[in-house]
Amino acid sequence: MKQLIETPFTRRFGVDHPVMLAPMDKISDGRLAAEVARSGGFGLIGAGYGNPDWIEAQFDAAGNLPVGIGLITWCLLEKPDLLDLVLRRKPAALFVSFGDAEPIVEAARDHGIPTIWQIQRLDQAEQALKAGTDIIVAQGQDAGGHGMDRGLSALLPAVRDLTGPDQIVLAAGGLADGRGLAGSLMLGADGVMMGTRFWASREANGSDAAKAALVSADGDDTRRSSFFDVARGLDWPGEFSGRVVQNTFSKPWLDNPDGMKAAASDIQKTYEASDPDDFSVRALIAGESLDLVHDIQPAADIINNTVSEAARLLAGAPSYLVNQDRHA
Ligand SMILES: Cc1cc2nc3c(=O)[nH]c(=O)nc-3n(C[C@H](O)[C@H](O)[C@H](O)COP(=O)(O)O)c2cc1C
Repeated sequence: MKQLIETPFTRRFGVDHPVMLAPMDKISDGRLAAEVARSGGFGLIGAGYGNPDWIEAQFDAAGNLPVGIGLITWCLLEKPDLLDLVLRRKPAALFVSFGDAEPIVEAARDHGIPTIWQIQRLDQAEQALKAGTDIIVAQGQDAGGHGMDRGLSALLPAVRDLTGPDQIVLAAGGLADGRGLAGSLMLGADGVMMGTRFWASREANGSDAAKAALVSADGDDTRRSSFFDVARGLDWPGEFSGRVVQNTFSKPWLDNPDGMKAAASDIQKTYEASDPDDFSVRALIAGESLDLVHDIQPAADIINNTVSEAARLLAGAPSYLVNQDRHA
């Protein structure tokens, strides 16, 4: 008999599986978010910096399936019209990350929309808890995309100690299979949010060339830096860096931040002029969990494989336990 994993997250949000799709900018489009929802997970549209037409189109593409949407906190705070639009579309949840999202949590609550706040440090978890967000996602530094420098293995149980048992907490960063799910549950999470693993899915919104590049890279090829924010002309707050597969264009600058800033306009010109599928120049955003990504899979298989592997591991856990008298 196939076993499911039930947690406070699955019960409260009415999903079959404790697996959330990360809101990867443009890659998590309406089609992928809907497929995750259809497969029993929680799907989030990745609206990143927030393009109103694109957002409307993705909600339309998701149809009647309940999907949420994620935006970058500091962008959303700069664009009140965008928040109005998002709230009007009544997402299953509004996900925010990178900055103090308290006013957004309040506005969403007034509209009856649950919020998800991704944190990178314990002091941010305190802020999120105080604001009354519905779900806290603890993101470790091995995550693909923007983040900070704390690892997940202490941060996650520390967040749980901080919140107590009633807060829904999910884990993110470096998790791509059932081992990540089972381990995260043991460390105090109610489920996982995965990005990189779903990027390498059949339904993800990206080219075949990008997906092939994901499969051929591994975690060693990734590193956090602000190089691709400079190259793309994005003005990110200095405390956040992005984990990306580094390439021949980025590597010479990684340990020369001053030189990189001085050369910013040339770097931007070269980047803009390059073919979007030329990953010797372009950013291939992905995390250390590329170590665990060996193929492109349908999103439904990713969810089913993750849950069945985690269930098998959890069911086998008693094999570690022996009676004390055996050692007497
Ligand atoms: C390609 C890509 C794009 C991402 N874009 C965003 C984004 O726009 N907003 C955001 O909050 N997080 C973004 N993230 C980070 C995710 O929210 C999440 O923390 C991360 O994917 C989890 O780690 P993993 O990639 O190891 O699964 C992105 C991640 C990836 C891989």
